Amino acid sequence: MEVLVAKKTENCINCYFCQFMINCDQKGCTGCGQCIVACPNNARVTQKVERDKKIQLTVDGKKVEVPERITILKALEILGYTISHHPEQSGQVFAPCKIGGCGACSVLVNSSLKPSCITKVEEGMEISTEPAQIVTHEPIRLANNFEAYQGGIIGAPEIRTQQVTEFAFFAQGCNLRCPACHNWHITFSTTGRYLTPRQAAKKMESGRKHYEVSKVAVSGGEAALNRPWLTQFVREFRVICADRETRLQLDTNASILTPDYIDELYAVGVSDISPDVKGLYPETYMKITGLDDLELAKLCVETTWRAVEHLLKNYSDKMFIVLAIPYHEEFISLEEMREIAQKIYELNPQTCISLIDYMPAFRCRDLEFSDVDNMEKVHQLFLDSGLHKVLWQTGDELPQAVDPEDILLFNTDNY
Ligand code: SF4
Ligand code: SF4
Ligand code: FES
Repeated sequence: MEVLVAKKTENCINCYFCQFMINCDQKGCTGCGQCIVACPNNARVTQKVERDKKIQLTVDGKKVEVPERITILKALEILGYTISHHPEQSGQVFAPCKIGGCGACSVLVNSSLKPSCITKVEEGMEISTEPAQIVTHEPIRLANNFEAYQGGIIGAPEIRTQQVTEFAFFAQGCNLRCPACHNWHITFSTTGRYLTPRQAAKKMESGRKHYEVSKVAVSGGEAALNRPWLTQFVREFRVICADRETRLQLDTNASILTPDYIDELYAVGVSDISPDVKGLYPETYMKITGLDDLELAKLCVETTWRAVEHLLKNYSDKMFIVLAIPYHEEFISLEEMREIAQKIYELNPQTCISLIDYMPAFRCRDLEFSDVDNMEKVHQLFLDSGLHKVLWQTGDELPQAVDPEDILLFNTDNY
């Protein structure tokens, strides 16, 4: 049978990311695709190979045969299981990141949970995809880089200080493939330990206590991809956090944040949320996010805007919400930015906006820094729309506001 494997091309710049920062044993490719997604120079491509040797597995109680050295997810696909990449698609296995980061695609392998998208099939494996059995195990995901930060680095911008103001971790894996991802070395790295929500909550609380801060943040990658994990993490954290006043912020690309998911996040204890708005139209969204599937891009952009509407209409007085809106003239026009501003104004003129420029990073290292004048123009058109809580940042200077008083608009005291 023909299967896909990864091959290095002459574009390789010997950055070694695919050797040291991803979860590949480098001994015979399974075609999982982690190295292809993570390579900053597009130097990894797929190649078809014949794989005749078969191995036997038991899947959901049935004995089956599949080609050797493929992932469990691929084996499930071959066996006719349906795979979804967005909560609004139907599928027996939900696999949004497909690089082993989010853990959402996990199945039971010989009674322990393993991410099916990167785990290799082995002779005699017993696999269960039964949701009723899976929920009896604690969910897992890659969540690392537990670190302290000065205010303003994550999500909602605050006044930068020399002091640590928050403790955060970064969830690995993302459903998007943004070519200018500024966090790509975390997002697409799949090294580190898989943590349960309880383990992550304990690490978070221990860091928060150590630095004596009253704010924690979950960033990424995309932390929302594994809903059971994230909601359980927030619940566990709220139980063990010694400071009842601690704010918990979620940075999210909002692409899978359905209204019922937002309701659940609020109910379990997310107090601050910073959804990204990456364009108004699917074509722009594809350019910014690197998605090559128009239908998936449509679903993601629609879900994002539904999330924005739900948050602004129903949670403006309950959660501290900042919309993070990236801009670069290479990806989105000023006219579309104007339409975005208008749309947000109509939803809620009090909305806090953080305009962020795309800088050279990942697969866009030749991107020019956006001109400060351009960012000022974008800032002005947001103000012209009637929105007035608008901060912007460019290059290393972050955040900037026309009037330093604007910073005070981003005040969490009332939430
Ligand atoms: S990640 Fe890409 S550029 Fe870096 S070593 Fe691997 S193939 Fe080469
Ligand atoms: S990361 Fe996956 S696709 Fe890349 S070489 Fe390793 S097994 Fe193959
Ligand atoms: S889809 Fe497999 S870990 Fe995210």
